[in-house]
Amino acid sequence: MFTPKQCFIFMLSMFSAVVHAELEQEIQGPKLGKPASEEVIKAWDSSIFPDGKGLPVGKGTVAEGKVLFKAQCAICHGPAGVGGTAEELSGGEQGLTGEYPDKTIGTYWLYATTLFDFIKRGMPLMAPGSLSNDQTYALTAYLLHINEILPADAIMSNENLFQVEMPNREGMIWIYPALKEEPNPVSGN
Ligand code: HEC
Repeated sequence: MFTPKQCFIFMLSMFSAVVHAELEQEIQGPKLGKPASEEVIKAWDSSIFPDGKGLPVGKGTVAEGKVLFKAQCAICHGPAGVGGTAEELSGGEQGLTGEYPDKTIGTYWLYATTLFDFIKRGMPLMAPGSLSNDQTYALTAYLLHINEILPADAIMSNENLFQVEMPNREGMIWIYPALKEEPNPVSGN
């Protein structure tokens, strides 16, 4: 049989085995997720600025955007950006200072380039990143058209999107006015 000393050593080794196993589990984690592939990283590696810096090459028309919107967006946002279950994208009748403010692309968004960036990264909700650059320019052009910012024959591209004057461009109040004059630490503008 075991002596008390052998017994103690046995217990100690059992204890250390349990602690060791627990530590190992902690290091390994629950094994959720997987490493991001080069492709995924490339798709997310985008920084688009109001002056057009970072816009990918491409172009699209209002008419092309209309067809795409009907097929991929209207189910949530309504036939022309209004009346669906998701955010209203157009049809803002009252500005932000009205009694019942409508927060739409036309009344609220400051830069057309942000619209491109948002759509390319996040929409359609169930398949973000699936739209090509041309499709995203077309959808952006269509949404700007139904917000009465662009005419029906407009073509948007990396060369002119940043020139679009958004109606609410000067409508924001700087909470830190001193920062307005500072260059942007990222874009340098
Ligand atoms: C499955 C439903 C769904 C589909 C399909 C969908 N969206 Fe959205 N969309 C949403 C939801 C929900 C939000 C609000 C999410 C948020 O603000 O983060 C949103 C937000 C947006 C916004 C920002 C609105 C704002 O003012 O905050 C834009 C622009 C937009 N979607 C465009 C599109 C376009 C273009 C398509 C088609 C390519 C599309 N969406 C397809 C559900 C959808």
